[in-house]
Amino acid sequence: MNAEIDRVRDQLIVALDYPNIELAETVTSNCGDAVSFYKIGLQLLPVSGMTLSGALRQQGRKVFLDFKLHDIPATVEKATRSIVSQGGDMLTVHAEPPVMKAAVAGRGDDPDLKLLGVTVLTSYDDEMLAEMGYAYGARDLVLRRVDQALECGMDGIVASALEAREIRERFGQGFLIVTPGIRPAGSDAGDQKRVATPADALRDGATHLVVGRPVNAAEDPEKAAVAILEEMASA
Ligand code: C5P
Repeated sequence: MNAEIDRVRDQLIVALDYPNIELAETVTSNCGDAVSFYKIGLQLLPVSGMTLSGALRQQGRKVFLDFKLHDIPATVEKATRSIVSQGGDMLTVHAEPPVMKAAVAGRGDDPDLKLLGVTVLTSYDDEMLAEMGYAYGARDLVLRRVDQALECGMDGIVASALEAREIRERFGQGFLIVTPGIRPAGSDAGDQKRVATPADALRDGATHLVVGRPVNAAEDPEKAAVAILEEMASA
């Protein structure tokens, strides 16, 4: 089983959704070598999240910087350049063509930072998209945005695992599909609407799974992460 777990370890990204880096560091040290990839997002970024990112990278961990950039092209390009200067393994921007083109320009030829387009947040369903004025439901909007992301030169996309299979069927291999909204069977969905189990997400073509509350709100985060890795390894 250990070799199987090693095979999938880099595909599990644990979201460090905590109010301060001290709490996040408690969890990363509790998880030890079990978890190799962490996501630092909007909760930690304003409170020294980039300092934590640097420290994790120094320890040989990978870091997904979930900035979800969304601004005018000039600002996105400059923001991406600033992020490249600090280092990171993945960066998210919203999957709108002008935003993605600016991020690709800002990344320049840094080979390390993978750019991901956030297609449609996994907390949205069709009804919510209609209410916000979108003419497309989640599935169609995701597929349109994947097409545009690949066209813009992005390395991959963020979508729900429920869309992963169709994305792979339509657009083939060779790009990253990162899926949040992962829930081991029987766990609470919280505010997520489009959820899947770890095994299903991998089987459907996801390359990386983002897991937040099932690990970061668990009494023993390491144990929770290892249980998810075992499920991934058996997929
Ligand atoms: O706790 P949970 O597993 O729902 O956390 C999912 C994580 O993935 C959160 O940090 C959230 O910000 C992030 N995310 C998401 N949906 C996206 C992109 C990122 O839930 N489309």
